[in-house]
Amino acid sequence: MLVSLACASCDAPHDPAALATVCTACGRSLSAAYDPTGLAEALRSGSIAARERSMWRYREVLPAGEAPPVTLGEGFTPLLPLDRLGRVLGLPRLTMKEEGTNPTGSFKARGFAAAVTAARDRGARRLVAPSAGNAAGALAAYAARAGLDAAVWLPSDSPAPNRLETRACGAEVTEGEGTIADAARRMKEEAGGGFDVSTLKEPYRLDGKKTMGYELFEQLGGLPDAILYPTGGGTGLLGMAKAFDELESVGLIGAARPRMIAVQARAVAPIVAAFEAGLDESEATPDGRTIATGLQVPKAFADWWVLREIRRSDGRAVAVDDDAMLDAIRRTAAAEGLLLCPEGAALVAALPRLVDEGVLTADARVVAFQTASPFKYPDVLAAALG
Ligand SMILES: Cc1ncc(COP(=O)(O)O)c(C=O)c1O
Repeated sequence: MLVSLACASCDAPHDPAALATVCTACGRSLSAAYDPTGLAEALRSGSIAARERSMWRYREVLPAGEAPPVTLGEGFTPLLPLDRLGRVLGLPRLTMKEEGTNPTGSFKARGFAAAVTAARDRGARRLVAPSAGNAAGALAAYAARAGLDAAVWLPSDSPAPNRLETRACGAEVTEGEGTIADAARRMKEEAGGGFDVSTLKEPYRLDGKKTMGYELFEQLGGLPDAILYPTGGGTGLLGMAKAFDELESVGLIGAARPRMIAVQARAVAPIVAAFEAGLDESEATPDGRTIATGLQVPKAFADWWVLREIRRSDGRAVAVDDDAMLDAIRRTAAAEGLLLCPEGAALVAALPRLVDEGVLTADARVVAFQTASPFKYPDVLAAALG
């Protein structure tokens, strides 16, 4: 049950029943608090097993109101052991959370199922956001499902399937040169109203992504030692950290946390640069390009929060080259029959270095996130095949 809403930075309270964007006191992200007691009981007793096989099995910690949630069956994705690849890499307990099986073909479905449900329940009629691609498709789909209008601003070099799915679901699409940062600037000038559901400028996408953390807890019977996450805006990383805090608050886990390892593309790696320099916030990177379009985020809105969670978990932030992503796609497909999206491939590409540096050891339970379906990136697959 939703209990309260407050700023994640300055703690200023906000009305959880209102359509809220960012903190009215300091301008940073808001975060909702829930009473997870009922969920904790279900997890403890095992009765959770009888619940629906979607992220809404965790309804007590989601913004579910009286009306049924806006859902396409998102969440409850497989956690695949990667035994053969893992052995070669010296990580026999390597697993991949396969988020490409979500509706709309990416983990963005989780965030928008929650955000669109909350926005609808609070009276929004038109939802707007800039996107690197997958968020646009998910926003369009869930807005259509809820009978709401949607408008998105996209870089014109975002993958064609993203632009097509968004149009197919009836959203207004505005394309333009540049990155998601330029798309966000254009949206500000052109949107003319509508509720802004941009990454971490609205509180409930975070809670949708949080369900990935609960699923790991259920699927592993506890937490892994390390989580590799392809980091653009960082919502999933923050969501999982929030899930672990909620689990600790009801005594289901202790204070130990998985090491959060943020992986970015070398050409656009503001979080990595800030982490390495010991900074609390990142500086916007110049206009870099990567095949992992979901990671083409020059400066995350909640970079301060992402950096805080990485450090709190004794995690790392690492950058990989696009060529290494292509190599990881070939390697993983050959070893496991699993095709990776470029963002998922970035994680596999980061593994050898993390093993060499002793960050990941042979006994570690490691989870990497395949955040989208590889079929949303036909050009990348073609490039991997050469
Ligand atoms: C496939 C994929 N992976 C990762 C990301 C980054 O997600 P986040 O903003 O939660 O860091 C995105 C964002 O667009 C994405 O589309």
